[in-house]
Amino acid sequence: MARPPAEAPAPGPHAASSADVEIPTLTVPVTTSPDVARDPYPLYRVLRERRPLVRDEGTGAWLVSRYRDVCAALARPRLVAPPPGRGLAHMEGPTHLAHRALVSSALRGRALAALAAGVSRTAYVLARRIAARQEADLVAEFCQWLPTAAAVAALGLPYEDAARVQELCRGGLAHLGGAHHRDLEACLRPHLARRRAHPGHDLLSVLCTAEIDGRPLSDETVMGVAGTLLGGGGEAAALALGSFLANLLDHPGQLALIRERPELIPGAWAESLRRDPAAHVVLRRAARPVTVAGVPLPAGAVVACLVGSAGRDPARFADPDRYDIFRADPGRVAFGAGRHACPGAELAALTAEHGLRALLDALPGLRWAPGFRPAPEGLLTRGPRTLLVRHG
Ligand code: HEM
Repeated sequence: MARPPAEAPAPGPHAASSADVEIPTLTVPVTTSPDVARDPYPLYRVLRERRPLVRDEGTGAWLVSRYRDVCAALARPRLVAPPPGRGLAHMEGPTHLAHRALVSSALRGRALAALAAGVSRTAYVLARRIAARQEADLVAEFCQWLPTAAAVAALGLPYEDAARVQELCRGGLAHLGGAHHRDLEACLRPHLARRRAHPGHDLLSVLCTAEIDGRPLSDETVMGVAGTLLGGGGEAAALALGSFLANLLDHPGQLALIRERPELIPGAWAESLRRDPAAHVVLRRAARPVTVAGVPLPAGAVVACLVGSAGRDPARFADPDRYDIFRADPGRVAFGAGRHACPGAELAALTAEHGLRALLDALPGLRWAPGFRPAPEGLLTRGPRTLLVRHG
């Protein structure tokens, strides 16, 4: 169990340099504590109730925990993505808008619909492979593959690259920005050269042939954007899919309803993201002095938006710890808010829906393996690392 900060050494008052406001500092490095990574929810509760803005001594970041404050901070133009990084998440202003428009158009509407059949096919191949055995680990054999395959398909990379990309993403490619990854670049570079010479209709071709301010995108920019997409597909969506399946297997009554009424899947997915998002912390840095949760912070301050806490805020969600596929408005805070809100949300939803349909079709009687309990881990990114199941 995580130790709530209330039981930690007393928080010492600390005056912000830019204001007269007294701001408490937590004397425990909460965001790096293994106890918090195991179960952050007791901490979140205390923060929301008593310390809506607090400085984490371990990292120096200001933690924001209430739903309203998290959404406001994510959308503030003065709060930008902290370095290092050169993916979309690290761009701002007109450059960000122009690059984002390219990516977004390839991840919605007709372009997205064109990916559906491939995602579904991959989901069935994976599910049938699992069906050949009585017991399986859904994380290793399903969740880590399907979203990567979907992102690989969106970019128009060959399916055979999915295994290599999946391996690279597992090796720690940071989803939200840290796209600097030499091995991934080595994997992408030959495709870039080919797309520049012979463009197709895929997202990589769109990026390779696009011009912004009359100039083509450099290889570095294309790889930065592609890296964010593959990282998002490979890491965040895999963790979110794992948490989704864990929530359903933990609630067999609700899973049975979904078997009968698959139209309930989108609501069940949104509810899982609210309750157990894949990224619990989204970082920002103050480009100029800024007021967060009513408190002025100086330029350079790092703000940790606790998305995981926002989704459990009782001021916004009734009975927030409960998983309820019929919740009327589970919100979308798991995908961020404002100008950087996730453009991959629809692709992630499509992947989850086709993934679940394939599993339910291929694995009747899907349930936990005897004695198994899921144990989600992590704070920056969070999800179960194993899901042992049986079927039949
Ligand atoms: C359930 C799965 C996913 C979750 C929970 C998730 C979460 C997030 C969050 C919280 C942000 C906002 C970060 C910020 O405000 O700085 C974000 C941004 C982003 N996500 Fe995702 N994401 C998911 C899936 C995907 C997928 C499948 C893709 C694409 C294949 C993707 C691509 C991106 C990109 C490109 C950005 C940066 C957008 C920008 O800065 O304008 N994500 N994601």
